[in-house]
Amino acid sequence: MKVFVAGATGVLGRELVAQLVARGHEVVGMTRSASKQELVRSLGARPAVADALDPDAVARAVASAEPEVVVHQLTALSGRVSAREARHLERSFAMTMTNRLRTEATDHLLAAGRAVGARRFVAQSFGAWRFARTGGPVQTEAEPLDPEPPAALRPGLLTILHLEEAVTTIDWGEGLVLRYGSFYGPGTAISLAPDAVMAAPIRKRRFPIVGDGGGVWSHVHIEDAAAATAAAVERGRPGIYNVVDDDPAPVREWLPMLASALGAKPPRRVPRWLARLAAGEMATVMMTEVRGASNEKAKRGLAWKPRYASWRLGFAQGLG
Ligand SMILES: NC(=O)c1ccc[n+]([C@@H]2O[C@H](COP(=O)([O-])OP(=O)(O)OC[C@H]3O[C@@H](n4cnc5c(N)ncnc54)[C@H](OP(=O)(O)O)[C@@H]3O)[C@@H](O)[C@H]2O)c1
Repeated sequence: MKVFVAGATGVLGRELVAQLVARGHEVVGMTRSASKQELVRSLGARPAVADALDPDAVARAVASAEPEVVVHQLTALSGRVSAREARHLERSFAMTMTNRLRTEATDHLLAAGRAVGARRFVAQSFGAWRFARTGGPVQTEAEPLDPEPPAALRPGLLTILHLEEAVTTIDWGEGLVLRYGSFYGPGTAISLAPDAVMAAPIRKRRFPIVGDGGGVWSHVHIEDAAAATAAAVERGRPGIYNVVDDDPAPVREWLPMLASALGAKPPRRVPRWLARLAAGEMATVMMTEVRGASNEKAKRGLAWKPRYASWRLGFAQGLG
């Protein structure tokens, strides 16, 4: 198939393009920068240069590719977020720009896909930290989202809702949304690279277990996230899918094992009140209250199975 990937040079985009090409698809990969065209070529795809926030440029890039499937993997999340910014994440450049990519750029890509007669649209969403904090530890796509999310998450969650609704309600094709778990593996925030955004503070013991460490996280290896996305390009009914591993687990369980895999000392423990004072409400809720996600629907509906079924194996063998 002819596939247009917006965000082809990102952590997930690079892996996805390589997998799509290996599966025999003809891929056009979008980037803002003329200088990254060679990277796109090296993955086996044809580059298209366009700013995702420029509707005319997006329309031209998509039209030139004549794709059957459009994939949206645009974010601005790879930039570094300081501890101060994390407290007010909604004001950070990374979030402000990502919010525009999830709203404006989504609308531009959908309009462009419709105009060229694409029949499928697959978009990146985010699963963690969004479920209501009332049900069981592991939740499905059918379960309600948190009606009272921490203030720092609210603007971002609204833009994700926009993306999810806009994509899953298209009437000119099939819209699929993938709610990824927390990425780990080469190039991501959790990897063996010395500057990996989340691994670095864990190595310095600046990523403690808060309270009882009961927040349940769903992880996914970057190769598995890309494989699920490639599957969603090829098959699956319209709708929302959690793309996570088989093993949602509380922070108190996975964080010490991750620290050990990174060669770090065990994480410190801090009481909830202190974490709230030092790091704010969002970080405290993420460490103590959030729920994990079930991948049953993605396994069944996309005929996908994570190679790293559990982060236990992935942290030991797949950090890169
Ligand atoms: N995705 C998540 O759910 C998530 C959540 C938390 C943390 N993280 C971490 O953050 C990192 C994010 O990885 P990622 O692959 O999602 O993002 P990324 O590596 O920052 O990639 C973003 C992609 O979007 C493209 N892009 C951004 N703005 C654009 C614009 N205006 N016009 C055209 N293209 C634009 C970039 O293209 P060009 O630069 O080539 O133009 C790039 O291909 C990982 O380390 C991950 O662990 C991810």
